[in-house]
Amino acid sequence: MRPFLKWAGNKYRLIDRIREVLPAGQRLIEPFVGSGAVFLNTDYDGYILADANPDLIHLYRLIRDEGDLFIEEARTFFASGTNDGCVYYARREEFNALGVTPEAIRRKALLFIYLNRHCFNGLCRYNRKGKFNVPFGRYTRPYFPAAEMREFHARAQNVRFLHDDFAAVMEQARPGDVVYCDPPYVPLSETARFTSYSADKFGLAQQLRLARKAEELARRGIPVVISNHHTDFIRRAYAVANLTTFDVPRRISCNAATRRPAKEVLALFC
Ligand SMILES: C[S@@+](CC[C@H](N)C(=O)[O-])C[C@H]1O[C@@H](n2cnc3c(N)ncnc32)[C@H](O)[C@@H]1O
Repeated sequence: MRPFLKWAGNKYRLIDRIREVLPAGQRLIEPFVGSGAVFLNTDYDGYILADANPDLIHLYRLIRDEGDLFIEEARTFFASGTNDGCVYYARREEFNALGVTPEAIRRKALLFIYLNRHCFNGLCRYNRKGKFNVPFGRYTRPYFPAAEMREFHARAQNVRFLHDDFAAVMEQARPGDVVYCDPPYVPLSETARFTSYSADKFGLAQQLRLARKAEELARRGIPVVISNHHTDFIRRAYAVANLTTFDVPRRISCNAATRRPAKEVLALFC
């Protein structure tokens, strides 16, 4: 099943490779859930799905709890005449001005689906002040993902959604759990542009913090799988893990050079 959100780095196309490496267990924990491609295409008894992006987690909780009521309201945002730059920028401004009351969070979640399907390349990028700043995408006919949202609602009924940093989420793991981490990737080169997902950049220090956390969980008997680019830095950072490497063509990139196939790694810490 495809995720209902467009998401940079989503793992839909790599799901078979990931399933081959993921160990069996009772519950899967995803601290970097993004669009949820792995959740939607695996079959654990339970899930904890988390992300540092609060807009994403609020949206997931609303779809889990409200289902069709929320989906049909989201559909009205795609009415004829709304695939237009003026409408897009007015809605982006409204999204950025909304507060944190339950009504504002709900309205923000509805707008998030519209923005995701109408913005440039489906990117989710915020400026330093935390304002969503992706330009209009100029699509011919943006798709409203009703079937994908219904599937998400059905599968999410017993899922715990958390908005937190990955380390706090990984702390919750217990024996019997499996952890799958899909962090923002290390750049392929010094000059490669970062795809930024939230106001805080995920730098090399964070990559090392994640690798150390994975080692710590593995010592406690909890297997952890991490996806990343296969660079020298990552090979050193994941030295104690079992590595599976493969080529993938890059899709979302402003730079033609980084669209060439890049080596990916799936690292199993156990
Ligand atoms: C490569 S995407 C995950 C894609 C996901 N596997 C999918 O299939 O769509 C990385 C995610 O990490 C999240 N993220 C960035 N920094 C984080 C942090 N410190 N803790 C938790 N999540 C973080 C981003 O919001 C983004 O959704």
